[in-house]
Amino acid sequence: MSTAEAAATRPALAADPLWWRSAVVYQIYPRSFADSNGDGIGDIGGIRSRLGHLKALGVDAIWINPWYPSPMKDAGYDVSDYRDIEPVFGTMSDAEALIAEAHGSGLKVILDIVPNHTSDQHRWFQAALVAGPGSPERARFIFREGRGTNGDEPPNDWMSEFGGPAWTRVTEADGRPGQWYLRLFAPEQPDVNWDHPDIHAEFEQTLRFWFDRGVDGFRIDVAHGLVKDPGMADANGLTFPLPADTPDDIDHPHWDRPGVHDIFREWRRIADSYDPPRVFCGEIWVGRTHRLTAYLRPDELHTAFNFEFLMSPFLAASMRETIQTTLASHAQIGAPATWVLGNHDICRPVSRYARPQELVGPTDRNLSHYIDLPADFDAGLRRARAAALLTLALPGGAYIYQGEEFGLPEVEDIPLEAMQDPVVAGTNFEDLGRDGCRVPLPWTTDGSSLGFSPDGAAPPWLPQPSAWGSVSAEAQESDPASTLNLYRAALALRHQQTALGDGDLTWVDAGPNALAFTREPGFACWVNFGPDPLPLPADAAVLLASEPDVDGVLPADTAAWLRLP
Ligand code: GLC
Ligand code: CA
Repeated sequence: MSTAEAAATRPALAADPLWWRSAVVYQIYPRSFADSNGDGIGDIGGIRSRLGHLKALGVDAIWINPWYPSPMKDAGYDVSDYRDIEPVFGTMSDAEALIAEAHGSGLKVILDIVPNHTSDQHRWFQAALVAGPGSPERARFIFREGRGTNGDEPPNDWMSEFGGPAWTRVTEADGRPGQWYLRLFAPEQPDVNWDHPDIHAEFEQTLRFWFDRGVDGFRIDVAHGLVKDPGMADANGLTFPLPADTPDDIDHPHWDRPGVHDIFREWRRIADSYDPPRVFCGEIWVGRTHRLTAYLRPDELHTAFNFEFLMSPFLAASMRETIQTTLASHAQIGAPATWVLGNHDICRPVSRYARPQELVGPTDRNLSHYIDLPADFDAGLRRARAAALLTLALPGGAYIYQGEEFGLPEVEDIPLEAMQDPVVAGTNFEDLGRDGCRVPLPWTTDGSSLGFSPDGAAPPWLPQPSAWGSVSAEAQESDPASTLNLYRAALALRHQQTALGDGDLTWVDAGPNALAFTREPGFACWVNFGPDPLPLPADAAVLLASEPDVDGVLPADTAAWLRLP
C-alpha cells in the first residue's frame, strides 16, 4: 500500500457506532456451512472452525439464519423456543463461544428473529390447542370459525406462501373438527396475534436475551407481515406486492399494514437502550420503494434488504433504474441502502444470470422460473463476478450469501425425493423450492463431503454435486483469478478506500449498455453489460477487475474498479 493509500484507509468499522451503514455482512446458513460432529448437518462448531475463512475474506459481520430449537418443518423458521439453541446446531455455550470469537476477530454478529409465526410445537401453540375455542391461550394466535355449513371452509380466502389456503383446521378435545388457525407459511408455522400484549412481551424478552449476550443485531423475518386486518377481510385476488396502479390508500389485508410500524418503533427503543446500540435489518418484500423506506424512518429499522436490485436482470437499464430509485428514496429519509444478490430463498445469481436476461421476469426469484430457460453458466459466472464488484462499490452496506464468494451455481438436479423444502410438497412439486441454493459448501477438493463434514461422516443433508471439488475453497485458494480471491481483493480494497461504503455516487455516461459512476475521493466503478468491449477512461488506473488482465478496455460482462487522478 502506498502512503497515499494508507492515509485514505478508514478506521476499523468494528469500532464505529455507524458500522451498519457501510458493513458487508456474510450470511451463514448454519445447516449448510460446516459440520463439526459428522451428522451431515452444519452446526455452530462448524462455524467456529471456519471463522478464519471469514476473517481472510474480509467481511465485517455475520448473519446467522435461525439456530433455535425447531422441528425443522421450514429449516428452522419454525421456532419452538426463541431463547435456546437447537441441539442439532450445538449448545448455548457453543453459541456464546462463537459470539465471543467472532467479536475477537472484529466481526459483528446478527441473528435472525422470526416474529410472524412460531412452530406448532411452541409451548404457547400447544397450550392453545388444548385450551379450546374462546380461551386466552388461543387469543395469542389467530383462530377463527370456518365458513360454510359445518364450518368446513377456511375463514377467508387468504393463501399460503407455500401453496394452498393459509388456514389449517384443528381437531377439538371432543374429537370433532373445530376452529381454523392462520398460517401464512407451512401448516406447522401458526401466525401469532400481534394485537396481544403477550406477543409484544415475548419478543421484547427475546431481543433482550440475545442483546444481553452481546449480539449486535437482528435480521427480521417477514417483517412486513406481522399485522393483519382485524376484520380478516378477503383478499379478493389482490396480489402482493400491490399492482403498480393500486391507489396508495389501499392496503392488503395481511401484508405491509400501517400498524406494523408501531412494532418496529417499540423494537428500536429497545435496540437504542443498549451501548453500543443494536441494529435491525428487515426482510421486507413490498415492491414500491416508498413503502420500503417507510420502515427505515429514523425511529424504526436501520436497514432493509433491497430485493428490487436482487431481482433485476443483468441489464444496464434495469440495474441503473433500481439503483437510482433506491438511492433517491433512501436519501430522502437518510437511510443507507442495503445491496444483496442472493440468499437462502433465491436461485443463486450465477444461475439466474446464466439465462437470457431479456427473458427473465421482474419478480422471478426461484429456480422454477429459470430451469427451463437455456443456460450459459460461463456467462452466468462472469456476470455474477461483475455484479459482485458493482454491489460492493455502491453506496451503503451489502450482504454476501455463503458460497457466492466461490461463485457457486444453483444445484438444479437435486432428486425430488431428496428435496427438503416444504414449498415443494406444498405446491405438489410444481415449485422446485429453495434447496438448490442451500446445498452444503465445498471446502476441500476431495473427501466424501468435500470438507463439509469430517471424513467418515453421514452424507450431507442435501447431496453435493461431485464436480464441486473444483470450486471448493481449497481449489480456489491458490488461483489468483478465482472468485474467492476476487472477493478477498474487493473487500480488502473496500476497507482501504474511504470512497466506498456509505455515501453517494455520481453517474458517468458510458453508453446504453454500461453503468459507470464515480465516488469521492478518486474512485470509479465501470460495468460493461453489453457484448462489445468498452474503452475505459484514459487517465484511470485499474484497481481491480472482475476478469483477469483488464487494461484500458473493459470486455463484455465485466466490471472494473478504477483509481482516478
Ligand atoms: C422468510 C425466510 C424463509 C422462510 C419464511 C417463513 O422468507 O427467509 O426462508 O421460509 O420467511 O419464515
Ligand atoms: Ca453437525
